[in-house]
Amino acid sequence: VKGGFDSFMDKEIHDQPQAVADTLLGRTDELGRLKLDELRIDETILRSIDKIIVVACGTAAYAGHVAKYAVEHWCRIPVEVELAHEFRYRDPVVNEKTLVVAISQSGETMDTIMAVRHAREQGSKVLAVVNTYGSTIARESDAVLYTHAGPEVAVASTKAFIAQITATYLLGLYLAQLRGNKYIDEVADYLTELGRIPGKIEEVLARQEQVREVARAMKDTTSVLFLGRHVGFPVALEGALKLKELAYIHAEGFAAGELKHGPIALIEEGQPVFVVVPTPRRPTLHAKVISNIQEIRARGARTLVIAEDGDDDVTPFADVVFRYPPTPTLMTPLVSVVPLQIFAGELARAKGYDVDQPRNLAKSVTVE
Ligand code: F6R
Repeated sequence: VKGGFDSFMDKEIHDQPQAVADTLLGRTDELGRLKLDELRIDETILRSIDKIIVVACGTAAYAGHVAKYAVEHWCRIPVEVELAHEFRYRDPVVNEKTLVVAISQSGETMDTIMAVRHAREQGSKVLAVVNTYGSTIARESDAVLYTHAGPEVAVASTKAFIAQITATYLLGLYLAQLRGNKYIDEVADYLTELGRIPGKIEEVLARQEQVREVARAMKDTTSVLFLGRHVGFPVALEGALKLKELAYIHAEGFAAGELKHGPIALIEEGQPVFVVVPTPRRPTLHAKVISNIQEIRARGARTLVIAEDGDDDVTPFADVVFRYPPTPTLMTPLVSVVPLQIFAGELARAKGYDVDQPRNLAKSVTVE
């Protein structure tokens, strides 16, 4: 069942190229236009929504954070991302013009189910982005856009996260197409880029031994920080979550720009810090992250940098560089998260922990 891998998590990390390919499959027509037949929400409603609120928990919420950058850019609709349990117990401004997007692998997370019910009671349409067919969230929502990641067995989510980003990107491009924010050929270009992602994930997987070696050598580490900017920020949060839940190590993710507003005080000699660096083809964004690496390096941090192939600007300030193939900025989370998943899994294994069944956690959290 583990397909020759030591753990389900390992298998599922390797399933990721397929998870993206399967989530894209069959969602374009013969002319290459995006068609999402399963979006059974009236097109006039989809044209008139003035806000999207993503509700989700944990890793699924981080997928929502990534989607926010892309969907706002493509559709010019404000997107809020809210932890489902927080959404439910405040008094959120939602109405018929709000599209609530509930993201969930299991479709059985009680916090998210309660948020879905609450949103529908307020008159919002709810679109579920779910991996499990016929699950409660799928049944209780107005429409479902399934992620086709296949069953995810390991408690820590990997391929579902990648598939959630892929599916929400399809949703964003579809809305952009429908609302006239993007021309068909622009949408087609983005779809082509998404179609290249499976091959890029394969390339990152082919380099995994470097990540594993570094992880094994860090098995006595007690604290790891993760920094990112733009879409790299939620990737940093996800990297930290994976490490906490699998290796039981204190780990925290920060927006790189937030460093000087507090967290930089944590940096001392030898503190390991992962930094997710965007493509150098976005020079302004890139330069900002490079200067963040310099700042922490100058204070003694041990920098583990995730950067694009050929990005030499990082080299003088990096103790280790993990590379990903050239990828458009909005698509980078789909490749840059992979070394972080491998790192967390391998470090946990080196400490002798069960990576499929971390302590105190359940695969789906069916209580509030
Ligand atoms: C982390 C993880 C959890 C889930 C969260 C939501 O690796 O797996 O944070 O992402 O419990 O679960 P679903 O997606 O099933 O609603």
